[in-house]
Amino acid sequence: GQAIAVLTSGGDSQGMNATLRAIVRCGLYAGAKVFFIREGYQGMIDGGANIEEANSLSVSKIIHKGGTIIGSARCNEFRERSGRLKAAKNLVGNGITNLIVIGGDGSLTGANLFKKEWSSLLEELIRKGEIFSIENTKYSCLSVVGIVGSIDNDFCQTDMTIGTDSALHRIIESIDAIVETASSHQRTFILEVMGRHCGYLALVAGLATEADFIFIPECPPEGDWQLKMCEKLSSHRKAGQRLNIVIVSEGSIDRNGNAITAEMIKNIIVENLNQDTRITVLGHVQRGGRPSAFDRVIGCRMGAEAVMTLTEADPEKIPCVICLEGNQLVRRPLIDCVKDTQAIQKVLNERNWEKVVRLRGDRFGP
Ligand code: F6P
Repeated sequence: GQAIAVLTSGGDSQGMNATLRAIVRCGLYAGAKVFFIREGYQGMIDGGANIEEANSLSVSKIIHKGGTIIGSARCNEFRERSGRLKAAKNLVGNGITNLIVIGGDGSLTGANLFKKEWSSLLEELIRKGEIFSIENTKYSCLSVVGIVGSIDNDFCQTDMTIGTDSALHRIIESIDAIVETASSHQRTFILEVMGRHCGYLALVAGLATEADFIFIPECPPEGDWQLKMCEKLSSHRKAGQRLNIVIVSEGSIDRNGNAITAEMIKNIIVENLNQDTRITVLGHVQRGGRPSAFDRVIGCRMGAEAVMTLTEADPEKIPCVICLEGNQLVRRPLIDCVKDTQAIQKVLNERNWEKVVRLRGDRFGP
């Protein structure tokens, strides 16, 4: 049978455990050995007890848990070739020729590079006498499949990433709670939500909670936005609203690329409107806790699809990402997804806002 290894990397997200469960159970069903690699890429580099064979029981009673039971890390060492060389040695040492990476943008970019370098990493290991050349034939191909686990929903070519839906549930539940206290005191609240350079969480949470004003990185406010915002907030109050809610995505910027922070927004509101204003930074509560039904189910589906991709006949598979399109799972070339995702970052840095919105496409709607 084949040996499939799975790791979770980067920021954890709700639904990663459901994904792990599906990978282990489907892998075993297909007659493969399944290995956990603990602590993300760092565990692959360190090897030893970090690489451990999993069984059916290893993934029992985890589907409802947030986080990832095999640990995750943001690993700088894997960015260096020397780190990837150690990682390759540990995979060969454990007889692993299939790798599933569950992670965000950075983690899947790393997976793509690892796959690209695989033959040259093996050659270097053989040259240095760290592995025997005879092993080269068996290990000459590493099959790589990516699954996007991230609350940010910032990865191209998939409609949703695992964790986003649960994070949204957490955010709107928190905002609903804030609305009650805000209304009692006739206050204005500024809520900072996560998402890195992607405004999806802020935008959708804003729509779902009737926010008065939303800041997202992809669409920096134009002109005298301070005045526009204040007019909007005060007009809502005049119309009888007892509170105001402003949602700011953590990566928000103005047209010159300067950060727009919750503190900044608060000062503008207090100075101009003299409203009793508070800031709530939701932080990591958005990332933990129980996964929603949606995240559990796409985790299961994507995990199973990843295993099927690896156990199908074709031996030299191009690395792919399991993506959601409509309600269908599709396999997309990893390299294309990574390129598109990096292109958005580039256009963001260039401050070409029209193009950013176009590239984000359907995700943001009209
Ligand atoms: O990528 C997920 C995410 O939660 C982002 O929304 C946020 O910017 C970042 O990770 C926080 O990183 P850390 O958990 O390392 O503080």
